[in-house]
Amino acid sequence: MNIVLCDSAAQATRLSATLIYREVAARPLVVLGLATGGTMDPLYQELVSLHRACPIRWSDMRCFNLDEYVGLAVDHPMSYGYFMRHKVFDPLGVREVQAHLLRGDAPDPQEECRRYEDAIAAAGGIDLQLLGIGENGHIGFNEPGSSLDSRTRIVHLNPDTLTANRRFFPPGVCQPESAITLGIQTILDCRQIVMLAIGEKKASAVAAMAEGPLSAMCPASALQMHPATTVVLDTSAAQRLRLKDRYRRAGPADLHSA
Ligand code: GLP
Repeated sequence: MNIVLCDSAAQATRLSATLIYREVAARPLVVLGLATGGTMDPLYQELVSLHRACPIRWSDMRCFNLDEYVGLAVDHPMSYGYFMRHKVFDPLGVREVQAHLLRGDAPDPQEECRRYEDAIAAAGGIDLQLLGIGENGHIGFNEPGSSLDSRTRIVHLNPDTLTANRRFFPPGVCQPESAITLGIQTILDCRQIVMLAIGEKKASAVAAMAEGPLSAMCPASALQMHPATTVVLDTSAAQRLRLKDRYRRAGPADLHSA
């Protein structure tokens, strides 16, 4: 795990967006795994800005979304599919055929999980997966207690996750209590991973992920076993890391080799 400490949230966000942008610029046929959530919103704005300043080819890449709420169709304003379409795909000119989304309203959710795993395999696997982290250490919607060898499946969300994400649901709009997520093993199969974590609220989860034991109670700790993960942090998210001085000294030089 390559840990990169940045002086500000803006710098961490810009760096993460640049890693994605550079990958697409260098390998137009890349298969991306894309995350949603509050942390990703400014990252995608940055990505769109980078593209507008110096356009690159998005027409041949393919991408897979990380997770989705059960029951929400892709055109539901609170769905992750809707978020991606409006904030990422439309501004970058990514077409529907390129962008694989989990159908939260699939009539047979189990079959939807199988379909998604098959689609990832048919695409040759995910080259670069972007991740955030939940305050409880979840990645995607793999909640504490998830099997480290899990694959795409339906999960019941923990009360703390529901509380953390309630802010995205306006009053009167029902928040689903379950979701479909890429499994932990599915994430570990991705060739490269970039995680962005911002803010004090993520500090405990980040420390457990990077320096705690490998444990189902902190699903993100599974990334310790991944050979090519870069974790980009601002100072607040890094504050509980015991080895932060060492990560800081290693600095961006490590990043170039990531
Ligand atoms: C959400 C999403 C995750 C995301 C995480 C952090 O529940 N399922 O994919 O990484 O929680 O979200 P945020 O960036 O809003 O804190």
